[in-house]
Amino acid sequence: MGKILMVYASLSGNTEIITDIIADNLQNLGHNVEIKSFDFDVIEIDELGQYDAVLVGTYTWDDGELPYESEDFYIDLEDGNIQGQIFGVYGSADSFYDTFGLAIDVFADRVKNLGANVVEESLKIDLSPDKEDEERCKNYAKKVSQMIQEKNKASA
Ligand SMILES: Cc1cc2nc3c(=O)[nH]c(=O)nc-3n(C[C@H](O)[C@H](O)[C@H](O)COP(=O)(O)O)c2cc1C
Repeated sequence: MGKILMVYASLSGNTEIITDIIADNLQNLGHNVEIKSFDFDVIEIDELGQYDAVLVGTYTWDDGELPYESEDFYIDLEDGNIQGQIFGVYGSADSFYDTFGLAIDVFADRVKNLGANVVEESLKIDLSPDKEDEERCKNYAKKVSQMIQEKNKASA
């Protein structure tokens, strides 16, 4: 159905696991998912437009900071035309911190301010996903899928 880019930052692997769970669910719903990592892949801002949806996965660092490896992407986003594009933000964080998952909110605000059509609820998972979180990932994938379907319907 749709072509989806998932791009993530993960230091200790939790956000990577969450990425894989969401990707599996999206694939089960018939979507084509491409997974990239901020660490190892080049993400061309002007190629974002070829995707029906872009999902950004991030951990939170150092009192609410974005991962260093995602900063260029965060800054360069304003050079891409993401107006109206479906964007989602998710990731792992630690509820021990007052700034629980702040990087996720910072990314979601950024793309919202640039006019993206943001998946309403950002998915914040406490450390590594448990069974309940797996269900949340499944619902999140469903939501993204619905947004793609609605958009396709509107432009048909
Ligand atoms: C030095 C350090 C600072 C952190 N700061 C925060 C923070 O401010 N807020 C938060 O929610 N989590 C914070 N965390 C927790 C990580 O976001 C959490 O461990 C997450 O699961 C890491 O995801 P990853 O396995 O994908 O790298 C911090 C972790 C470390 C080691």
